[in-house]
Amino acid sequence: MKGILLAGGRGTRLLPTTLAVSKQLLPVNDKPLVYFPLSVLMLAGITDILVITTPEDRPQLQRLLGDGSQLGLALSYAEQPEPNGIAEALVIGADHVGGEPVALVLGDNVFHGYSFQELLRQECRDVDGCVLFGYPVSDPHRYGIAEADADGRLLSVEEKPDHPRSNLAVVGLYLYDGDAVDIAKNLTPSARGELEISDVNRAYLERGKAKLVHLGRGFAWLDAGTPESLLQAGQYVQLLEQRQGVRIACLEEIALRMGYIDAETCHRLGAALGNSAYGQYVMSVAEQFGNR
Ligand code: TTP
Repeated sequence: MKGILLAGGRGTRLLPTTLAVSKQLLPVNDKPLVYFPLSVLMLAGITDILVITTPEDRPQLQRLLGDGSQLGLALSYAEQPEPNGIAEALVIGADHVGGEPVALVLGDNVFHGYSFQELLRQECRDVDGCVLFGYPVSDPHRYGIAEADADGRLLSVEEKPDHPRSNLAVVGLYLYDGDAVDIAKNLTPSARGELEISDVNRAYLERGKAKLVHLGRGFAWLDAGTPESLLQAGQYVQLLEQRQGVRIACLEEIALRMGYIDAETCHRLGAALGNSAYGQYVMSVAEQFGNR
């Protein structure tokens, strides 16, 4: 399965901070926001990933993540000059996807929950149609909202509805079979001139091939798009990391545990950041792993 990480956009709700820096590079406690969605793809077992960014932000993202080989990944880059909608990622990434199933994740979404890796691996296996993930929210009129039947078959998706049919927000992680690129290429832009991801999902719904997986209680989904939610994400991550002594979305640790890199490489990556608590943690994880 191929991966696309969409990390463009203008980040207007975070101005003036985002005048000179991509939202995706802002810190969530101890690491850049983009580490969180990238860790989701890595946990799903996806290593061939296209990072889509604005032309302005590309050099910095590339400086941070490189070609991914240090983490056992193959990262490539493409540009989205204007934020013409999330579904445009599938058009921009057409060659990268090459008719294979694809997981598309948004660069500002933070996920954390028990057994998330297992859930991801299970859902990524044999995707037939599309798989969306729904998360209960208290203010559904602000989100894309999905409704499903008792078997998880999607019944409707609506963008920011006045009269929501459910309280399940569609989170920024979408799994598609090999038809997604063709569907996206044939979309008509919406009234605001965007290729809407809801329209891709609706096309699958009309084929009877759309599934909604409920991310229930005990799961955390945060989108760090406003000053409040960015701070909340940082506080959430800090609390868990401090209480548990483990780090969330530590890319080096995930690469090690997934078998993408060995303990020696992991230790070297940690040593390069050794002046920070993050770097110390990476080294200690590598040492523990190496001693098993
Ligand atoms: P949004 O938060 O909807 O948009 P934004 O990041 O530009 O921020 P704002 O609304 O404050 O102006 O985007 C969600 C994620 O999707 C974010 O990581 C950016 C990404 N995105 C793109 O890369 N291109 C797009 O065309 C859109 C709509 C979003």
